[in-house]
Amino acid sequence: MEYTFLGNTGEKISRIGLGAWQFSESWGVTDYEAAKKVIQEASSQGINLIDTAEVYGRGMSEEFVGKALKELGLRESFLIASKIPGDFLAEHDVYRAVERSLKRLQVDSVDLMQVHWPPCWHNIPTCEYMRALEKLVHMGKIRYIGLSNFPPVLIDEARYCLSTEDVVSIQVRYNVIERDAEKEIIPYAEREGLTLLAWSPLAKGAVSGKYTPENLPKFQDVRSGEAIFHPENFVQVYKVVEVLADVGNKYGKTPAQVALNWLITASPVVVPIPGAKNEEQVRSNAGGAGWRMSYEDWLKIEEASSKVRITRVLW
Ligand SMILES: NC(=O)c1ccc[n+]([C@@H]2O[C@H](COP(=O)([O-])OP(=O)(O)OC[C@H]3O[C@@H](n4cnc5c(N)ncnc54)[C@H](OP(=O)(O)O)[C@@H]3O)[C@@H](O)[C@H]2O)c1
Repeated sequence: MEYTFLGNTGEKISRIGLGAWQFSESWGVTDYEAAKKVIQEASSQGINLIDTAEVYGRGMSEEFVGKALKELGLRESFLIASKIPGDFLAEHDVYRAVERSLKRLQVDSVDLMQVHWPPCWHNIPTCEYMRALEKLVHMGKIRYIGLSNFPPVLIDEARYCLSTEDVVSIQVRYNVIERDAEKEIIPYAEREGLTLLAWSPLAKGAVSGKYTPENLPKFQDVRSGEAIFHPENFVQVYKVVEVLADVGNKYGKTPAQVALNWLITASPVVVPIPGAKNEEQVRSNAGGAGWRMSYEDWLKIEEASSKVRITRVLW
């Protein structure tokens, strides 16, 4: 495993993290022992960053993460990142939500608390929740503050609200197919020295190579309405998968590993957090780091990927 730092904090984090949304009905890993094995294997592979959220399984993911880290004696080995949903951002709700996260995670302090998404339906002022988070840092309940799914202008506003702390990370959807983050957010993160946590870095499994236009399943999980798997889009996605497979053959890597490697090749701040359902997947994902493809191979993938146009207007 290779390592980098969380923003400017000096905290060493693995270049590939572990996404823990999988520990929920949304993805189907609802057996605690299965989740514990994934976490144990992540640690064996040198992964030390785990990303969960209050909404994942309405607390199930946080509970599994907390219990497993405790039972495995790995609390000190992992940097735990969790998230407060955009619906819980009134000041009193921030305190209540963090208190509940701490309980579920069985820790005294959450390492990185991220705002999961900006408030959409309730008109909570940005400084109300950012100041609440800063107070929680002062009182040792959280160590660092991150934002998720915020556009640059709102990140600036959120940072302006803080006086002694700063935002250390931004989390956004970013994979070899869905590359909007490259336009504004990644340059912002690079300029400001923030870590860019890339969610859905495998495009929810679409670039793993196991799905083809001919064998596309009718997903019963969170992917049932996912635009990227709509036949009109997936037929384009698969052309990129073929290039990933071709490049992978050269290095002895799977399409999923090449897809993760491609994300970390062109930016020093990108840290993918692929979700894994089992030990084999977490092992494979760890193999997305620790090597680099050539510039020529990177470019081949870039060219194939830039031809894809995903539409979400499907009805
Ligand atoms: N901040 C946010 O708003 C936000 C939103 C979404 C996710 N996230 C975070 O990002 C993490 C990852 O995103 P995600 O779960 O949406 O998508 P993802 O990581 O792109 O895809 C995960 C899925 O891909 C398949 N997979 C994983 N590793 C594989 C491998 N090595 N080979 C083949 N297939 C593999 C598995 O599903 P199958 O085996 O069933 O195909 C797995 O459930 C989440 O766990 C969560 O922590 C954050």
